[in-house]
Amino acid sequence: MSRQSYIIGNWKMYKTGSEAVQFVTELAPLVASSNPHVYLAVPFSSIYQAATAAEKHHIVIGAQNVHDEKEGAFTGEISALMLKDAGAEFVIIGHSERRKIFKEDDSFINRKVLQAMKNDLKVVLCVGETLEERKQHKTEEVLSKQLEKGLKGVPKDYTDFIVAYEPVWAIGTGIAATPEIAQEVHSFLRVILSEQFSKNNAAKIPILYGGSVKPENISSLMEQSDIDGALVGGASLNIESFNKIVNF
Ligand code: PGA
Repeated sequence: MSRQSYIIGNWKMYKTGSEAVQFVTELAPLVASSNPHVYLAVPFSSIYQAATAAEKHHIVIGAQNVHDEKEGAFTGEISALMLKDAGAEFVIIGHSERRKIFKEDDSFINRKVLQAMKNDLKVVLCVGETLEERKQHKTEEVLSKQLEKGLKGVPKDYTDFIVAYEPVWAIGTGIAATPEIAQEVHSFLRVILSEQFSKNNAAKIPILYGGSVKPENISSLMEQSDIDGALVGGASLNIESFNKIVNF
């Protein structure tokens, strides 16, 4: 089955509002007729400006995190409703940097997923194993746990979300997974998805690869049948490299 493809830039803690506007304005004509959907996950403070600049263009703005509660006394946090109101249409949840540095566990991530879905934010759920886990042959065990726990309680017929496979050892290291390794994992993830969502529905869910995606490796990754796009960190900060990835 043919699925919609996505290239999602994850800016992490880079770019001010005015830098985001400049980027979106320069990128827009370059990606106007690109085949993949073009998404940018920008810092909270840049969402409104970036979303305003992206209006009427083939670029969708989103966030990199969200809190699991609707509202409340959570100093420094941001709700799904606030993100929507600022112009975000999607949100990355469960990125390995959030899991590792900010100690987010699967049940917290799951509550965020449900809260985002309830507020009509498209979820990009990240999963990925560490190098140590891979060496210990625990990749499948780790990924199925992250995926099952992360998506607990999502209705069987709800397929309007994205999964991103990001092996931790490939993020920001310059060492991307080979297309073969990524394809093997993606097809495994689809099997896990089909247990919760039925085979037909699992076939509709895009699975993106992330971790050192560059203009040089995007085509070979995209040739794989279960790779539906990429989540791009470092190479999404530069117009030239991001454009090359989108228009690979
Ligand atoms: P990278 O990051 O492309 O710089 O490896 C990917 C990510 O963290 O989403």
